[in-house]
Amino acid sequence: MSADDATTELLTLSRRLLESIAEGDWTTYAELCDSTLSAFEPEARGQLVEGMDFHRYYFELQGSSTPRQTTITAPKVRMLGPHAAVVTYVRLDQWVDRDGTPATSVFEETRIWHRRQGRWYHVHFHRSSNR
Ligand code: GLY
Repeated sequence: MSADDATTELLTLSRRLLESIAEGDWTTYAELCDSTLSAFEPEARGQLVEGMDFHRYYFELQGSSTPRQTTITAPKVRMLGPHAAVVTYVRLDQWVDRDGTPATSVFEETRIWHRRQGRWYHVHFHRSSNR
């Protein structure tokens, strides 16, 4: 696979990952992630969380939430050889609060992907607090 093809595939996978979060689609999210996924994210309050259980909790909560739309801006893919990559971007999440007012959250995200046995797995991410 060329670096250009890998970059295109990783951006597609990143979009699919964020769509799965916005749609509460646990099956797709879990398929894209390694079971040992590690993460720093605001919900973890400064702790490195490992594994999928921490993330599944939020998918199971989503039943009553309003529709979300996610946009990736300024994406960059940095290949670290043929089997690893760093994907960075700014994520915009649009949603409607309890009063019916549209709102937008903004996060910087760094996501690490590892390729093995012919496919990419999401293995680590770091998400900023909302700004
Ligand atoms: N909290 C799940 C994710 O951002 O990947």
